[in-house]
Amino acid sequence: MPKPAARARALLPALVVLPVGLASCGEQSTPAASIGSAERTVLLAEGRSLYMAHCMMCHQAQGEGVPGMQPPLVGVASVTGDPGRLIELTLRGIGRERGQLPPTGPWRQEMLGFDHLSDKEIAAVLTYIRQSWGNNAPAISQEQVFDARQGR
Ligand code: HEC
Repeated sequence: MPKPAARARALLPALVVLPVGLASCGEQSTPAASIGSAERTVLLAEGRSLYMAHCMMCHQAQGEGVPGMQPPLVGVASVTGDPGRLIELTLRGIGRERGQLPPTGPWRQEMLGFDHLSDKEIAAVLTYIRQSWGNNAPAISQEQVFDARQGR
């Protein structure tokens, strides 16, 4: 497997065309889409490197997951649906420890919470998974993550 940096370079062109594609899909109506496309490109690039550092080892490079161990992140409602629940599960994790959300599926692995990442980092990585591999859900803003943390 190539080094992460080499993989990131190889995939960068695909990432750069993504915002253009999304802009033509009626995404402008969402609050997050009010950010400029250059800003969005930066957000997605940051989200991608955070994903590679924190999530990829379990959910895999294309979000395909590992059968029986970790769920896929492609075409699942918890990724593309309610932002509040997605943010909460990412901050708290899923498992049997105090503070984690209870497990939902037949997965033998557990997921630690990512409370230690900043609001901006959580927003970037979640925007990345919501807009990659065929997922096409509105971006998540830093403010939404801030609000979710206050509500806990
Ligand atoms: C140690 C492995 C591991 C890591 C690292 C990990 N996860 Fe998970 N993740 C899991 C497992 C296992 C589940 C399913 C838990 C359950 O429902 O019982 C899960 C569930 C999820 C779900 C819900 C999927 C569904 O089907 O409902 C999302 C969304 C998610 N993870 C996102 C992330 C993001 C974003 C990161 C990185 C910031 C991440 N995960 C890092 C193991 C991991």
